[in-house]
Amino acid sequence: MAKTIIVSNRLPISLRHRNGKFEFKPSAGGLATGLGSIYKSGENIWIGWPGNTIEDPEQRAEIILELHELKMAPVFLSKEDVTKFYEGFSNETLWPAFHYFTQYIEYNPDHWESYKEVNRKFCDAILKKADPDDTIWVHDYQLLLLPQMLREALPEATIAFFQHIPFPSYEIMRMIPWRKELLEGVCGADLIGFHTYDDMRHFLSAVGRITGLSSESGYIQAENRIINVDSFPMGIDYGKFVKQAKSRKTQNIVKNFRNQVGDQKLILTIDRLDYSKGIPQRIHAFHDLLKDHKELHGKVSMIMIVVPSRDKVKSYKELREEIDLLVGRINAEYSTLNWVPVHYFYRSFPFEELSAFYSMSDIALVTPLRDGMNLVCKEYVASRGDQGGVLILSEMAGASKELRDAILVNPNDREGVKSAIYQGLKLDESEQKTRMASMQEVLQRYDIFQWVKVFMDRLEHVKSKQNELT
Ligand code: UDP
Ligand code: G6P
Repeated sequence: MAKTIIVSNRLPISLRHRNGKFEFKPSAGGLATGLGSIYKSGENIWIGWPGNTIEDPEQRAEIILELHELKMAPVFLSKEDVTKFYEGFSNETLWPAFHYFTQYIEYNPDHWESYKEVNRKFCDAILKKADPDDTIWVHDYQLLLLPQMLREALPEATIAFFQHIPFPSYEIMRMIPWRKELLEGVCGADLIGFHTYDDMRHFLSAVGRITGLSSESGYIQAENRIINVDSFPMGIDYGKFVKQAKSRKTQNIVKNFRNQVGDQKLILTIDRLDYSKGIPQRIHAFHDLLKDHKELHGKVSMIMIVVPSRDKVKSYKELREEIDLLVGRINAEYSTLNWVPVHYFYRSFPFEELSAFYSMSDIALVTPLRDGMNLVCKEYVASRGDQGGVLILSEMAGASKELRDAILVNPNDREGVKSAIYQGLKLDESEQKTRMASMQEVLQRYDIFQWVKVFMDRLEHVKSKQNELT
């Protein structure tokens, strides 16, 4: 039976070293949590990095076996690969460039060499598992060269690519010395997907200007094939969030948390540690709110969850220090013996506790400066069984194109974010319900299963169109 091979740099579970032993832990990040619900069907497998460096052959063999049971196969990265390919080219060159943080871009030829080598490592791992009629679905910016490498080895294969982060304008793309190779790498796929129409448009424009390939109505004419490019906004496993929020376990956690914080209004923020998420800007806006509205003191708190991420990369380390400082400052200025303005957690939480935070918070404040999609805001909406709560959402997040009934803000507009929080705190129940119900309808209709179906149907359509043309 034909299978789908999902490929991403990070597997949905990551290995953690604890008390001299390795253990698996669910990975954070939208790609892993989103696709985590769908890869298990049929004979499908997921190939990727288990998130730690393991050199010992015996340990490797053990991990291969354990992952096999879970329908996954590892690609092991060496320490050097992690430094140069993962932290280096992926997260110090592509990530800042694609999120418009040009001041953080590193141009390091050594990291580029490693990026090529590791993409090749992934290619070899896939070729060991792939049968001719399989579908290979490659995900995200760490593997831009992989579709073309696979195409050279398997000219007839069905290959798809999906990018989970923004695709920047041509003006940014042209700054990267290796732009042509990167774009040609992606063009090894038959179908290339983005979260938004704007990402797709930027990609087509960059391909046209940098590689010279022409396109019309979302179809690129390559040498001997057509390639389809389109936007497919990713959904979440809506039913899973509804069910978890209703569960007794989560309800008990809510009761317990509520007992601890009292009946004040709660503003929730959840992000991986990342400069693209606009965390300091958000703390500033909350500070301004407390400065201007003394009547809110003791009545509103922010619950700020920051999940550790890429902590060896300089810009991430600096961001962590900045957040520590800002939280320390706001709490030092406004705390009383029975009230803390910001409850700050620098760690990840299990699913049932996340669900409790979503269920109990009056506002979710999601204000990235740039975000491919952002699933946190969708998870908040799905978890609101009572249709209460307010979503404040950055217009720079891909999700803002779908969630039009959120209070939309420009995250750089400190005054605007402050006013939106104030407006959110005052929004009456019936208005909350109207907005929530309409957003829930969108997310329920276009959930992760529908997303996969639409994408896979299109892939099939592209393949038959290619066959008609040859
Ligand atoms: N998340 C998690 N553990 C936590 C906090 C968050 O697994 O302790 C998940 C969250 O549920 C969401 C993902 O991390 O599915 C973040 O995805 P998003 O698209 O919002 O941002 P990304 O991290 O991909 O940039
Ligand atoms: C985003 C990216 C993913 C990545 C995740 C976590 O969601 O789109 O590709 O896996 O962040 O980042 P990490 O560097 O820990 O894999």
